[in-house]
Amino acid sequence: MTATSHTASPRYVAPAAELPRIALLATGGTIAGSAPDATRTAGYQAGILGIQDLLSAVPALGGIAHIHAEQVAQIDSKDMSCALWQKLAARLNAVLSQPDVAGAVITHGTDTLEETAYYLHLTLNSHKPVVITAAMRPATALSADGPLNLLNAVRVAADPISGGRGVLVAVNNQIHCARDVVKTSTYAVDAFHSPEVGVLGWVQDDRVAFQRMPLQFHSVESEFVGITGELPAVEVVASYAGVSRIAVDALVEAGVRGIVVAGTGNGSLHVSLQQALDEAVQRGVTVVRASRVGSGHVMHNGAAPDDQYGFVSAGNLPPFKARVLLMLALQAGVPAERMQSLFENY
Ligand code: SIN
Repeated sequence: MTATSHTASPRYVAPAAELPRIALLATGGTIAGSAPDATRTAGYQAGILGIQDLLSAVPALGGIAHIHAEQVAQIDSKDMSCALWQKLAARLNAVLSQPDVAGAVITHGTDTLEETAYYLHLTLNSHKPVVITAAMRPATALSADGPLNLLNAVRVAADPISGGRGVLVAVNNQIHCARDVVKTSTYAVDAFHSPEVGVLGWVQDDRVAFQRMPLQFHSVESEFVGITGELPAVEVVASYAGVSRIAVDALVEAGVRGIVVAGTGNGSLHVSLQQALDEAVQRGVTVVRASRVGSGHVMHNGAAPDDQYGFVSAGNLPPFKARVLLMLALQAGVPAERMQSLFENY
């Protein structure tokens, strides 16, 4: 390493051996959770342990990578905010731009992991591997899953084969695409799945393998890379038996810019909701129809005459990921006539 590059990257020292340098950004979650005793996997507090505690539980990491760890936040991910997403994306873009950094790992809570992963998938300006990991059991539990998940995440990030695939989620020996992965269990260690499309690959012992590439736009080819400014208000409502229009009317009155509706089946809407959402569009609110089902596509002009009402259909993006894309699109000033194609390509 030259003296010039030392000056350009003052946060990092020259590696002692030829191991890849991985930036590890910690945000809290159950992977950093602590319970009063080892038998508890539900009664615990998330985000208690610092990143050095997590690292010291996995000495084998020293044989895989030089790790530069930073505590970016220490929260239960139920409390994740758009401001923290932006801070994380800015920090990741900064570390990944350093030539001696091979990739990055983020530790995160499982509850909103899929939203953060998708936000980063759409905003990071790098081909380098970026891997999010988490745990379903706190660090103090019998058979805690965090240490192996952390080891595997670093293995994935340290392997050049993982680059160019956008943000990856490595949990339970599987590697998922940030766009597709969702949490599907409140307690099981295999809580994460990518409905219909399946995993991108897997990691076991020292082997990292991929079986497919993400096809939608992400990272360097995303138009949302480096986006700044406060994200606009976009809220999620649901359709269900007997739903009223109260929530939609209140949101429109409060000035939201977008509403994602988790509709029944193929994104179908209760008649009272359909009417309220139609009026919302007339008042300048962007309405996206997604489904509460958890798998499958919402067809454009399928369960609702989208073109007649000015609704956008979410395809196979689940409601909370559709919200992420809509916030970015509104912030970037994507015109109404391009919104549908955006949802088909991201
Ligand atoms: C959290 O999301 O921070 C708590 C739950 C978890 O990580 O499993």
